[in-house]
Amino acid sequence: MSSIHTCSDARRLAKKRLPWMVFDYIDGAAGEGHAERLNRERIQSIRLQPRVLNNVEQRELAVDVLGSRCLRPFGISPMGMCNLSSPQADSWLAAFAAKHEVPVGVSTAASTSLERMIELANGNAWFQLYFSGNEDSSNALITRARNSGYKTLVMTVDVPEVGRRPRELRRGFKMPFNLGPSQLLDFSLHPRWSISTLIKGRPELANFGGQYGAFERTASRAGADWTLLQRIRDNWPGHLVVKGVLSVDDALRMQAMGIDAVQVSSHGGRQLDSAPPAIDCLARIRQAVGIDYPLFFDSGLRSGEDIVRAYAVGANFVFMGRPLLFAMAAEGQRGLEQLGQVLTQEASIALAQLGVRCIADVGRHMIVAD
Ligand SMILES: Cc1cc2nc3c(=O)[nH]c(=O)nc-3n(C[C@H](O)[C@H](O)[C@H](O)COP(=O)(O)O)c2cc1C
Repeated sequence: MSSIHTCSDARRLAKKRLPWMVFDYIDGAAGEGHAERLNRERIQSIRLQPRVLNNVEQRELAVDVLGSRCLRPFGISPMGMCNLSSPQADSWLAAFAAKHEVPVGVSTAASTSLERMIELANGNAWFQLYFSGNEDSSNALITRARNSGYKTLVMTVDVPEVGRRPRELRRGFKMPFNLGPSQLLDFSLHPRWSISTLIKGRPELANFGGQYGAFERTASRAGADWTLLQRIRDNWPGHLVVKGVLSVDDALRMQAMGIDAVQVSSHGGRQLDSAPPAIDCLARIRQAVGIDYPLFFDSGLRSGEDIVRAYAVGANFVFMGRPLLFAMAAEGQRGLEQLGQVLTQEASIALAQLGVRCIADVGRHMIVAD
C-alpha cells in the first residue's frame, strides 16, 4: 500500500529519504522562498462554484494539446538532474509519459540523454532548450532534438542568470558533487539513497560530455534576446513553446511572432523572489491573448483540484514539477504512478463537484469572485 495520498505526503516522505543537499536542490527557491510560497497560496485561494444535479457520471480528463490527445490533464515539467531524486527517475518519468500519453519535458540539463528519453517516452517527449550563451552550441542541441524525432521544442527564457537559491548554497550543491565532510555526513545519514546512487552511478549531465562539450549550470544566458527567439522560430519546423513568461506584453509579442504556445511559469519560484504569483499572471495573460491562443501553466500546483483551478483561470494544459520528483524519491516508480492517480482522481472528483463532465469545459465562470 502506498503512503502517498497527497502531494504533501510525497514531499514529507522524500524529505526523510533524500540527502539534505538533494532535498534542498529540489525543494529550494529563489531568495527567502516568498515567490514559491505565494504561487501555492494564490492557487489555493481560488474558490470554485459547486453545481449539482448535472449527471456527471461520465467524465473526461483527456485534453488535446498541440494536436495530440493527452490522456491525463497534466504533463511533466522539464527538470534538470531528475536522477538525483532516484537513480532511475528519468526512465520512470518517460514510462509515465508513454503510458498516459502526456509530454515529459526533457531538460537541457537532463540526467538521461535527449535521444534516450524520446525513445523511452515512445515519442511523448518535448525538448527543453536553455540558450547556452553560445548560439552554435544551442543550435547543435536543436539539431540533435530534431534528428531524434522531437516535434516540440520548449525554449525556457526565465533564466538569464540562474536564480540565487540560498538552500543550495548552504548545502554546497554543485554538479558534479563537491564531496566535502558535510556532504559525506549527509550521504552517510541517508544510506538508502547513497547505496542506490553508488550502485547505479552518479547522475551526469547526459546531454553533454565527449563530443558534445561541457555544460555549465550556472553560466549566464543573459545575452538571449527577441532576435534569437525569432531565429529559432524561423528554423524550428515543429511546435515552439516559450516557457517562463509572466508579462502580458511579452506574451502578446510571442503570440504575434508565431510562437505556438506560451507557458506561464515562474520556474516554481526558483528565479525571482519578488515575482508575482504565476497564477495571477495566467489570468492577465489569458485576458490579453484571447480565448483561442494556447497557454500552458506550471508553478505551485499541488493537487488535482489545483489543476482544475488552473484550467478555470485559463490554462489549456498544465505541468507538474517538484511533487513528481518527491513521489519517486519516496516510493520509486510506484510512487510516481500513485501520485499520478491521486492527481487524476482529485481532478475527476472536482469536476463532479463542479457539475462538468469535461476538463476542457472548465472555465473562468466557475471561479467565485472574491
Ligand atoms: C529540481 C528542478 C529542476 C528544474 N530544472 C529545470 C530545467 O532544467 N529547465 C526548465 O525549464 N525548468 C526547470 N525547472 C522548473 C520546472 O520546469 C517548473 O517550472 C517548476 O518546477 C514548476 O513548479 P512546481 O515545482 O511548483 O510544480 C526545474 C525545477 C526543479 C524543481
